[in-house]
Amino acid sequence: MTVLVTGGAGYIGSHICVELLEQGYQVIVADSLINSSEEAIERVEKITGKRIFFYQANLCHKQDVAEIFDEEDIDAVIHVAGHRSIAQSVIDPLEYYYNDIAGTLVLCNAMRKHNVRKMIFSSSAMVYGDLEVDDMPLREKSPCGKVSSPYGRIKVALEQMMRDIHHADPEWNIVLLRYFNAIGAHPSGLIGDYPKMTPNNLVPYIGEVAVGRQKSVGIFGDDYPTPDGTGIRDYIHVFDVAKGHVAALKLMEQEPAVRTYNLGTGHGYSVFDVIHTYEKVCGVPIPYEIRQKRPGDIAVLYADPSKAERELGWKAEKTLEEMCADSYRWKSNSNGYKF
Ligand code: UFG
Repeated sequence: MTVLVTGGAGYIGSHICVELLEQGYQVIVADSLINSSEEAIERVEKITGKRIFFYQANLCHKQDVAEIFDEEDIDAVIHVAGHRSIAQSVIDPLEYYYNDIAGTLVLCNAMRKHNVRKMIFSSSAMVYGDLEVDDMPLREKSPCGKVSSPYGRIKVALEQMMRDIHHADPEWNIVLLRYFNAIGAHPSGLIGDYPKMTPNNLVPYIGEVAVGRQKSVGIFGDDYPTPDGTGIRDYIHVFDVAKGHVAALKLMEQEPAVRTYNLGTGHGYSVFDVIHTYEKVCGVPIPYEIRQKRPGDIAVLYADPSKAERELGWKAEKTLEEMCADSYRWKSNSNGYKF
């Protein structure tokens, strides 16, 4: 089976490619390299000893996408490409809406034209919006709260668009995977999270402090309605997220439908929990300072992942210690990628 991975040179995409290749799939990657490096593709090939067919393609450019579908025989698409910063989506919503919505429209049109109707879409826990602690853990059917950012609203819109596409043409087989907070790196230390700009996610930033590239971690708010006042998230190893995609691909043999799954561990950890666990695994103190809340942030978010376990036979395996240890190995053994 040949799978096109959009955004396959990025953080989550590159880990998905490793899993796919190790499970015997043929992999084609389309990536604009706007926030990623082709070196990640070379590293995936090094880890797996297998080849990836790479296209530098911006999904908003019809011609780029048409060329891939004209040349390749694609069975299914894993659509990971998209902007990733919640805070940046508040600052520049136009760029976020344009890139993510136009890119997905162009992709889906090319899929329709070439009779490819198997799609796994990277959605996000952010579609649940700002809910109360009592609403946790989040089930796929949980009532959604007020979505707090353009990033979340784009994911809601794209999920709905996928449902409409299936409704109009029931041959489309679509899996919506709602990622919680993917962290960690491949245990080889060869691939990991390496945004072009200074990271603004918690764990990559803690890593920068641990290796001495930054002085201290800013904690964005300590008066949330949580036990220690800091935000709570469901951190999941990127390896487990990648395995969730391979499990979802198996559903492509079943009757076409739109199926939605949480990819989380079911455990919520605060910012302090993560800082202390990272300190424990890397053996150096992580200085921090309390800062203002970040726009678009919410207090608490963790999954009920039992539907994915029941229907996909998938369950997250890695602990928070393993996530932090792999993140630290990636940070300390490498200078990231060349851009
Ligand atoms: N945080 C800090 N300091 C930092 C960075 C983050 O205190 O320097 C806090 C945030 O306020 C939040 C928690 O750490 O409480 C996690 O923040 P991240 O930026 O690491 O992650 P987010 O929950 O904001 O978002 C991430 C991805 C999204 C994805 C979401 C799913 O960036 O793409 O998880 O839950 F949708």
